[in-house]
Formats: sequence, structure tokens, C-alpha cells
Amino acid sequence: MDTGLHARLREAGTDALTCAAQVFRPTVEADRAGLASLFSAGRVLQVHDRLLDQLGELLRIQSPARRFTAHELDLAVSDHLAGTRLEDHGVWVFYPWSGRLVHLLDEAEFARVRTDRNRNKITAEEQAVLSTKRIGVIGLSVGQSVSLALALERGFGELRIADHDDLDLSNLNRLRSGVHNLGLPKTVNVAREIAEIDPFLKVTCFHEGITRDNLDRFLTDGGRLDVLVEECDSVDIKVLARQRAKAHRIPVVMDTSDRGMIDVERFDLEPERPLLHGLIDHLDPDAAATARTAEEKLPFVAPMAGLHTLSKRMKASMIEVGHGLVSWPQLASSVFLGGALACDTVRRILLGQMTGSGRFHIDPETLLPGTDGPAVVVVRSEPPPPLTLRSMRDALPEAHRTTRPAYPLEEAAVAQLVEAGAWAPSGGNDQPWRFLNEHGRLYLFHEPARSHSAADPGQVVPMLSLGACVENILVMAAGIGIGLTHRLLHVAEEPRLVACFEADGTRVPEGSGLSLWLRQRCTNRRLGDRSPLDGPTKVALLDAAAEVPGAMAHLLEGAGPLDRVAALCGAAERLRFLNATCHHELFTKEVRWTPEDARRTRDGLDLATFEMSAAEVLGMQVASDPEAIALVRAWKAGSAFTNLSGPAIRSSSAVVCVSMPRMDRDHALNAGRAMERVWLRATALGLAVHPVSAPILLGLLADAPVFDASERERIAECAAGIRDVFATGDRSPAFLLRIFRAPAPSERSLRLPLDMIRSTAHAVATP
Ligand SMILES: Cc1cc2nc3c(=O)[nH]c(=O)nc-3n(C[C@H](O)[C@H](O)[C@H](O)COP(=O)(O)O)c2cc1C
Repeated sequence: MDTGLHARLREAGTDALTCAAQVFRPTVEADRAGLASLFSAGRVLQVHDRLLDQLGELLRIQSPARRFTAHELDLAVSDHLAGTRLEDHGVWVFYPWSGRLVHLLDEAEFARVRTDRNRNKITAEEQAVLSTKRIGVIGLSVGQSVSLALALERGFGELRIADHDDLDLSNLNRLRSGVHNLGLPKTVNVAREIAEIDPFLKVTCFHEGITRDNLDRFLTDGGRLDVLVEECDSVDIKVLARQRAKAHRIPVVMDTSDRGMIDVERFDLEPERPLLHGLIDHLDPDAAATARTAEEKLPFVAPMAGLHTLSKRMKASMIEVGHGLVSWPQLASSVFLGGALACDTVRRILLGQMTGSGRFHIDPETLLPGTDGPAVVVVRSEPPPPLTLRSMRDALPEAHRTTRPAYPLEEAAVAQLVEAGAWAPSGGNDQPWRFLNEHGRLYLFHEPARSHSAADPGQVVPMLSLGACVENILVMAAGIGIGLTHRLLHVAEEPRLVACFEADGTRVPEGSGLSLWLRQRCTNRRLGDRSPLDGPTKVALLDAAAEVPGAMAHLLEGAGPLDRVAALCGAAERLRFLNATCHHELFTKEVRWTPEDARRTRDGLDLATFEMSAAEVLGMQVASDPEAIALVRAWKAGSAFTNLSGPAIRSSSAVVCVSMPRMDRDHALNAGRAMERVWLRATALGLAVHPVSAPILLGLLADAPVFDASERERIAECAAGIRDVFATGDRSPAFLLRIFRAPAPSERSLRLPLDMIRSTAHAVATP
């Protein structure tokens, strides 16, 4: 039904960009006519006249020591008017957007009264200096607060404001405005508000926001800015604005509405100062102009926003952005604080009361400490004492001390076998092995000092790694033509002794050909090309597992099944990230954040092997904060973590699950052997491999005291899901590998030096 309402609404509306008040001086003939025509056109909807009060204030301010009676004040006002009728004194100010007509003192008297309470935090002389200054504000979220604070203090002669956005309802948690202004350009909103506070202030609007084309105009047209307040959220403009401000020697102030962070860059005093204190020096500033995706922008945004010093709630919220949140949060309290801080900083710069540059925090949470966030309860595991040569020797079976093997292993062969063993994969690349070469036998020990974990008190995961190590030794022996027998050892007094290898005197040529691939095998965390595996390839992978006693492999392919596996891995990974102890172990023990760290320790997970984009690395850095994670946990959020390996799993050709009849120590070792055999076979077939074992490994660790009842329940669901999707029946899933085609990984993980993991009878001096 057309009631003509919309047409009438359009007619009634003033021009959306009108933001200056109209000032009429009743003593000027043309202005009187203008006022009359406003009335005759019916545009004046409300008249507001409190001029007498303003005059009273003015007179009291002019004689601050005097106590006026009401009568004395009336007389003084009459004297001041000197015969002029009250309605002809001062100015009449018309606000077209509201139809209000307001009677005010004229500019000099108005300014005097309106700034009187600034004195002498701002002296009259300083106020006069400020009234000659030009300030530019780009971005009107925090920028609105800065602008209003500056206007309230009357801290400028001209304010140039720029923003291309309109006011949305979701802005009204922090932008001071009314719901009747929704849809209004933010520039207009600010300019109108300032005009309503003080119609004499000069505000110049750049409604189109700042672009490459108008930036220089913004900085210099009508006189060079004295200070630029940069509060926009576009990376390229942030960089460009600094480049141009520096060129024009204009100081830049930026408040980031989190933890009261404020940046001051005195390009006026330090013309050579690097942009943003040098924080973006490692980036190509011109790359900011072409950065379109979040991925491309993040390297700039991170140092600008101070990623490492963000508040815990901001970090925790950032983890949720794109999942549980549309955008990062901004609070009115932070924005108001930012407005106040920036205004104070700008004033002191303009009055020569501040000369320094830098990044500062005026953080209420630090300055006025409150209660802590949710507790981070980490169960720590004490590292057991490392193995010594003596403890290893003492552990050897009695018979081995008295009998020498018939075919003692030669030193050269031992060296090759140990090296191959050390190439094995291990959980978190912890390399939990030690080798002892004694009397021609090679012994493999578990070094729990390298693998201890509160989440794995039974040390199940290192058994898988040690199993892979056993397999590598056997494969290498076959490769160099040494018949090698091995026994898994169970020495009650020394459970760390795992296996003994002895030559059997035969020289059988290697049938499998796997030894050629020992060195090539690696973890590849790239995405795959989804290409299917042919029948013989699948059979070869399944057969590889079946060559190890008790082991079996199950292979899944196709979008539906891989989606299910991805969901199970996602659920397990979320649990692992949100569990305080697992989080602690991952980030403080396993991850090597820099190449230098990786090279120094030669163990752990080198970030460079994660195949992550720069944005994902920054995400990891944010997620490494245990207190932020505690908040995510308390909010029952963290859905971002459910998709960490999802894309990789879905991009794979297949996922292979190795299963065992059960998972005691020996079966876990054999599971590790089978996993490694599948991995080596896949490598030989030109396929890439990536373990995605979280749901299985968590299932094996569920009894660890680091998990609570609800976590155990979810772990059990994941484990049951894996059994179900791979149809393992009564068998225990032991390991999960995704298999795919992809280029080689961009980085390989390192290994400990051999002399750290190997002891020989000759090295008696080694403790
Ligand atoms: C028991 C075990 C569990 C593993 N779990 C994971 C895992 O959950 N995610 C992952 O990306 N890699 C996993 N890996 C791979 C190791 O991180 C990797 O083997 C180690 O960093 C050494 O690197 P390399 O395999 O390239 O030699 C696992 C390896 C083993 C043996």
C-alpha cells in the first residue's frame, strides 16, 4: 500500500551532508531577512533562548572575585547590553537537521564562557595558540571520541575529519550518536555534534574518506596540519598516511582502543624517524597498497595493533573472529579513554609540552588491578633424570654381560643403524631414544627425559616413535645386507631398555627396497591435490602395515569419509588446544618459533615445517597465550580450532589408520613399526604423508590426570568415531596418516647430533 509516506519522508529530510550550523546576526540586515524566511518557510521547529543565563555567566567570569546578588547581576547584564534589545544581542544559530534555532553569545563571548573552566589547565594564552592549529583525524570510531574531546576543549582552529563509512547500529556500542542518525555518514555525525557543542568551530569534512588521491589535500589544503590523528582501519592508508605525514613533517598520533595503547611519531622533530617506530621496517610499505586479503594485511596489522601486547580478552576474541564473532570488539570505555588520551597528547604536542615519540600503554587493567581471569591450571611433569652410560650398562641382561654374540656388529654398521634409527619420526620431534653399542650388540633405550609429559604418564606416544626407530634400524640393516634379529626386551629393573639388535650372520639382499627411502621420509604438512590412489598403491600401503606382527591398516577415501575424519580430528584438536596442560606442552615444550631456536635445539616442531601462511602463524602466536585460551575455554568457544587440519585432510587422497589387537607396550612398539613401514612405502611411491593422530592419541591418553570428566567423555566420542568410521571392530586404532600428492615440504625437521643420543663401550668417559 503506497501511503506516500516515503515521498513525504524524503521531502522532510535535510541534505544528508549538511553539517554546518547557520549563524544569523540580528544586527545584520541580510541575516534578519534570512531568519524571517526560515520562519515563513516553517523550517524552525523549536526555538531555544537561554541568552540571559549565558550573559550572567559571562559577567561572573569577567569579575571572578565578585559575588553578584540577583539584582546586581540583572543590572550588570543591562549595562552590558547597553540599550540593545536582548533578542538583538549575540547570534541566532539555526541547525537545519533538527529545525532548532538557538540564541547564543557571539563567538568571542561564547568562546570565553565555554572555555572558562579549561583555565588554567589550559591558560587563555594557550587557548589562543590552540585556536590557530589545524588537526586532522582519519577514521571516526576512536576518531569520533578524539574529535569530540578536542572540540570540547576547543583545542583547534580547524578540524579536518575523514571517514567513508556510514553509521550502523553495531557502531552504537561506542560511537556517541542517536538512533535517528543511523545511515548518516560518520563525518556528518561528528561535524553535527561539534556544531551543536560549538557552532563557531571550523570543521572540514572528507566524506569520501582518505584515498591516495586526496591524502595530500587532506594534509595540506587550507594550511598544513599541525597534528594528524590516524585512526583508520585500512592498512594501506595507515602506511601511506605516515609516509606522507613524514614527508610533510607532521606528527602522527594513534590510539588503539585496547589497553590504552597510544603511538606518537614526531616526524616534525625527527624527520628521519622510521614509520611506526620501525615496527614495519621489515615490510615493503608499498606492499600495503596492494594488500587485499586478510592474509596480505596481517603482517602490517600485527605490529600496528601490537599483537603481543593485546589484552587477554582481545586475543581470545581474535581467535573467535570469523567463527563466533564477525569482527574484533571495541568498547565505549576503551574508545572514550583513547579519545581522551589522544586529545591530551595532541594538545601537549601543539603547546610544545611533549617532545617524545614511542608506543605507550595507559592500561586501566594494569594500573587498577582487579581479579584475575579464569585460572590456568597446568599439570607439570617433572623431567626424570636422563639415562647415564652406567644406568644403561647396568640394565643389560646378565647373559649379555658374559657372552659375546657370534657375529658382533662392526662399528661402521652400528653407525649406519643408529643414524637410520634417528631419522625416525617422533611425537613433537622429541627423539626419545638413546643407543648403546656394547660388545657388538646394539641396544635401544627409551629416554623419558626427552618425552615425559603430564598428558602421557604411561608414555604411550614415545613407544610409537621408538617402534618407528626399530623399524628404521631393521630396514637399514636389510639395506646394507646385514641379517639382523631384534628382541623387544622387558627388564623389570630398567623399563627404559626397549630392544636389542644382533647380527645373525646372514647376508640377505633387501627385498622391500625401503632402505633407499629412509632419508627421504618426512612429515609433509602441505595441502594435497585430492588425486585418487590407484588399486595397487592402496594394496601396497595396506600390505606394508600387515608385514609387522599384529598390525593392520584401514584406508578411507572420498569426500564423505574424509569429512568425517576431519570432523573427528577437529574435535580432538580443539580439545587439545583448550586443555591447559596440552596447550602448555605444545607451546612451551614443542614449538620452535624461530629458525634459530630450531637450529639451537635440533628437536621440537620447527614452525617453518607447519606450512602456515603468515596470518596463520600470527594466529598461532595469539593462540599461544594460555590466559587468552583460558578465556576461550570459559566461553565454551574455540570453534576456530576445529578446522585446523580439516582443509589438509579434505585435500588428501586417503587416510590410513593403523590398528593393533590392543595397545600394550609391545603392541604400541609394533604399531610404530607398522606406521613407519606404511610411511616409507608411501614415500617410495612418491606420496606425501602427514600424521593426523590427535583423536587416536588422545583416546590412548584419556586416563591421564590432566583431563576432566567432560573432556574424557568427548575424547571417548572421538575415539569411538574413529573406530566406527574405519570399521576397526575389536581392534585398537593406533595411528592415523593422511596420504596425498604434493611438492616436497618447504622445510625438514632437524635431528639431535649423534653423539648426544649414542653411547659406546669406548665412550666410558661420557656420564
Ligand atoms: C607418535 C607421533 C605422533 C605425531 N603426531 C603428529 C601430529 O599430531 N601432527 C603432526 O603434524 N605431526 C605429527 N607427528 C609428526 C612429527 O611431528 C614428526 O615426525 C617430527 O616432527 C619429525 O619430523 P619428520 O617426520 O619430518 O622427520 C607425529 C609423529 C609421531 C611419531
